Amino acid sequence: MKLSAFLLTQLCVGFVQCSASRCLDQAVKLMEESPLLDTHIDLPQIIRSLNRRPLDALYQLNSSYPGHVDIPRMRAGRLGGAFWTVWAPCYDVVDEDPGDDFNTPTNHLRDAMEMLDIIQNMIARHPDDLQYARSSADVLDAFKAGRIASLIGMEGTHVLGNSLGALRLFAQLGVRYLTLTHTCHSAFASSAGFGTPIPQAHEGNGLTELGRELIKELNRVGIMVDLSHTSDTTMRQAIALSEAPVVWTHAGARALWDHPRNVPDDILRLIGDGPGQKDGLIQSIFFPPFIGPWPGAPNVTRVADHIEHIAGIVGRNRVGIASDFDGMYISVEGLEDASKYPNLVAELLCRGWTEEEMRGVLGGNLMRIMDKVDAVSESLKGRWPSSAISEKRKDLPATKWGGGGINTYWPTDVKEKVEKMQLRHDEL
Ligand SMILES: *[C@@H]1O[C@H](CO)[C@@H](O)[C@H](O)[C@H]1NC(C)=O
Ligand SMILES: *[C@@H]1O[C@H](CO)[C@@H](O)[C@H](O)[C@H]1NC(C)=O
Repeated sequence: MKLSAFLLTQLCVGFVQCSASRCLDQAVKLMEESPLLDTHIDLPQIIRSLNRRPLDALYQLNSSYPGHVDIPRMRAGRLGGAFWTVWAPCYDVVDEDPGDDFNTPTNHLRDAMEMLDIIQNMIARHPDDLQYARSSADVLDAFKAGRIASLIGMEGTHVLGNSLGALRLFAQLGVRYLTLTHTCHSAFASSAGFGTPIPQAHEGNGLTELGRELIKELNRVGIMVDLSHTSDTTMRQAIALSEAPVVWTHAGARALWDHPRNVPDDILRLIGDGPGQKDGLIQSIFFPPFIGPWPGAPNVTRVADHIEHIAGIVGRNRVGIASDFDGMYISVEGLEDASKYPNLVAELLCRGWTEEEMRGVLGGNLMRIMDKVDAVSESLKGRWPSSAISEKRKDLPATKWGGGGINTYWPTDVKEKVEKMQLRHDEL
């Protein structure tokens, strides 16, 4: 009795493994033909966290490196490309306080520049394995050359120093998406916080005036608008305002697990090509507390459930994959690190997704959206940059820049004008 039950179990397991391994072979083959693009990997954060001189540590990436990601594991996982994240933690984490008006300077802009520098040097340090990419054509070039396409995403507008000028320069440096918030509100937009509601900072808990200018500027310079981490109102307003498709570079489905970091069905219904809809893309995250059940030990099956739920609303041509590797303290069973991506691809193939649909999930859907965002940017080439500055800033005009006393850097006529302005200012 016991023996036959044992045999039966072995047979079932044998059968399941058999079909799963067939899907796995198919997944690996597919991934060798079509690049898998992961839209959120926090490896630069790990490098910065472990090293006083981060640039000195970059050579180590071609062997075993702490965390979820290094070059050997990306190769084993057949990763075709990644968006490396430019990020610095929100104010509370680093004991900085921008004040209620987000106007007190912090180190975030410097830190974001240093993160971008780490990424550029990481790519340069591993020319056989990594290749910089900004466009879908760049991604395909890198893939054909057998290298991992390396794109740049920026997470959170709190790192921008409240400045659209800074944003424009980040665009020149290759930033391809901007997440409108991290876990804190910024001068531009309202955040979903950590999971428990955070006190509201802006009227309506959505975009500010400056945030509305930011969306226009993102459309103009061709940076994708990323709505991960934002409040529901920020999501709705950005979808309505953006002239280009919007993306969630790492999120899940709220209908499957009720967490503010996930996208609710009524917002998913705004994404598509029907009347009143905007084109877009939702890349499913692997972080257990978002995909649930949590507390619990969700596995690769559950991530596939999120992808299928989202695809059920927006279509299989508007979903994709985003691990959040190296940005989370716990990972999903079956997707523990960068060597495991094929398990998720196999899971969807086993559920009957076609190879054509899977090429889209891997990267085709994202590349279509990137092309569309580039086309919108191209069509806006004649538009002048936004001259908007934060209404809270008190440093402009820069009336202190001329120095004081008998020494001034200003020509006399300029000095007179500034002094008149100052007089007017003092009278107010
Ligand atoms: C990593 O790259 C260095 C050169 O930067 C080389 O000396 C070393 O052998 C490489 N290690 C592996 C595991 O490929
Ligand atoms: C994932 O977990 C679910 C629920 O516990 C289980 O039914 C399923 O078999 C697991 N899948 C894998 C691939 O382990």
